Amino acid sequence: MNKALITGAAGFIGSNLCQFLLDKKMTVFAVDNFLTGNKKNLEPLINNPHFHFFAADVLDFDFFKLGKIDYVFHLASPASPVKYRAYPIETLMVNSMGTKKILDYLLKNNTASFVFASTSEVYGNPKEHPQKETYYGNVNPIGDRACYDEGKRFAETLIITYFRRFKLNLRVARIFNTYGPNMEEDDGRVICNFIYQALSNQPITVYGKGEQTRSFCYISDMINGLYLMAKTKNLAGEVINLGNPEEKKIIEVAQLIKKLTLTKSPIIFKPNYPDDPEKRKPDIKKAERLIKWRPKIRLEDGLQKTIIYFKKRYFSL
Ligand SMILES: NC(=O)c1ccc[n+]([C@@H]2O[C@H](COP(=O)([O-])OP(=O)(O)OC[C@H]3O[C@@H](n4cnc5c(N)ncnc54)[C@H](O)[C@@H]3O)[C@@H](O)[C@H]2O)c1
Repeated sequence: MNKALITGAAGFIGSNLCQFLLDKKMTVFAVDNFLTGNKKNLEPLINNPHFHFFAADVLDFDFFKLGKIDYVFHLASPASPVKYRAYPIETLMVNSMGTKKILDYLLKNNTASFVFASTSEVYGNPKEHPQKETYYGNVNPIGDRACYDEGKRFAETLIITYFRRFKLNLRVARIFNTYGPNMEEDDGRVICNFIYQALSNQPITVYGKGEQTRSFCYISDMINGLYLMAKTKNLAGEVINLGNPEEKKIIEVAQLIKKLTLTKSPIIFKPNYPDDPEKRKPDIKKAERLIKWRPKIRLEDGLQKTIIYFKKRYFSL
């Protein structure tokens, strides 16, 4: 039976990945300090005999006690702008020292396949569109998003340096906006904000004019991509974009959610935050070529599934 370790397991992506790997009959070791994650996400997993949860901070956890692991997914980090602005130092530390801690554990477990959850934010406010892995990015190193963007950029540099120096089996996934069940209603990310506001008949808040674009990937597609990144042979040292290239303006997403929820909520506009990227769209040719991956779920279908989940979890409908 293969063994997997997931940090950030109580979060949105982590909890979905735990379920997926358990369904693949893996033994899953899961670590989370609940900084931004939720115990509720673990409820469907906790009684599975192959699921072993450790309530701990990555920075303090003794990874060596787990012995040999086949797959390691390092996802622990606040991910939404609201959360990393609230926890800037924690964000920097888990991505820098936390990543180093896991890489040092991998020096002793050097056959494990490691996938790091990086982000499209490493491209900052991009001047190249769509974003290819070869683009260096346009990041403000001292802006209020820098704890996240630069934390992830440092982690990528550290990982690639360990790969070059120690030949570890390391892979970097640059994740673009992802959405779906197990997102928090107060998470601050655009899709959960809009759905929660629409279902509770509050105004749907668009920051700026809503002309900025994003590309949204449904969670099942993302989990599949992360799994393929871990499983595919000869991928060590690769950095790969994972995201849905279907690009939408934020205002279009607000209108679509309004239509799908049948809400009467008005769409209102508020001033945008500094350094908010104007455009975001992954070039996924590398993922198509190296891991044979392409998202399958259309935005409207993914939104329907997410709305059903939000209705059940937050409105008992
Ligand atoms: N969801 C997205 O759209 C998206 C986009 C790009 C990158 N990512 C990356 O994917 C990963 C997961 O994102 P998510 O959306 O699931 O976020 P999330 O906030 O839902 O989950 C992150 C989890 O990490 C945990 N955590 C944070 N610091 C920790 C620490 N020091 N020790 C142990 N646990 C810690 C949190 O409690 C939480 O459960 C993050 O690394 C994020 O940067 C996500």
